[in-house]
Amino acid sequence: MGGCNVDLVVRCAHLPRPGETVMAGDIERLPGGKGANQAAAAARLGAAVSLVSSLGSDEAGDWMAGVLEGYGVDTSLIRRSTRRTGSAFITIDKRGENQIVVASGANAELDVADVDLSVFDVVLAQLEVATAVIDDVAQRARRLVLNVAPAGDVGPETLGRCAVVVANELEVERLELGALEHCVVTLGARGAVHYRRGHEVARAFARKVEPIDTVGAGDVFCAAYAVAYTREASPQAALEFAVGAGSLATLALGAQGALPSEQEVRQWLDNA
Ligand code: RIB
Repeated sequence: MGGCNVDLVVRCAHLPRPGETVMAGDIERLPGGKGANQAAAAARLGAAVSLVSSLGSDEAGDWMAGVLEGYGVDTSLIRRSTRRTGSAFITIDKRGENQIVVASGANAELDVADVDLSVFDVVLAQLEVATAVIDDVAQRARRLVLNVAPAGDVGPETLGRCAVVVANELEVERLELGALEHCVVTLGARGAVHYRRGHEVARAFARKVEPIDTVGAGDVFCAAYAVAYTREASPQAALEFAVGAGSLATLALGAQGALPSEQEVRQWLDNA
């Protein structure tokens, strides 16, 4: 469950400072949004995926729905809004660092009140939608894997209802680690750690890659983690699978440019 965006991506030598104009090459229009990226990645990894989301009744919405269907994602729970499909303005510098501004559009209208969440083994969600939606989902999902990205405020009751919270190193600073039953923290090129009530229970290291674009790598990590979790992998195996998938996701431009299959992740891990 989560946001769908049209990602408008430009590459430039360095990221602009406030008030600065920098020149870039051609603009790329790519499918994105954390909800869409995670749904597409999970489907690529072989899971049966339905995406609960909100698109505009515009050409961009039709395009996004078509892209998701191309990955085998069930789009029947996607609603159409009178607001425009979400957009993300992404600038990437020559070192691969990025800046992202998201215009929420239709994502801000997402309402899941009439969606029966009890039919799903696992609900995977992020914070690109209203906090009230996340609070509602946490009460009704059988197992919620919540990726607290982009960083936002989630109440302790909702966090306490999550089966697993996934955060990066910045996002975890807003959490009380010891209060969470299960929290997975991504460490970028250094891999990821799984904490249970603040105590480390598993750690996976990443193989070295020459990344082309890290946008969306966290989404692929979350999707792979959720897929492994659904299949009841051990914490260590789930982390290793997710770190491998996240690494492979950096090897092409675009948040969905290099979504790996399960076989590709297994081969990557076998060659480690
Ligand atoms: O996590 C990457 C995503 O964040 C991009 O696809 C962009 O749409 C923003 O939502």
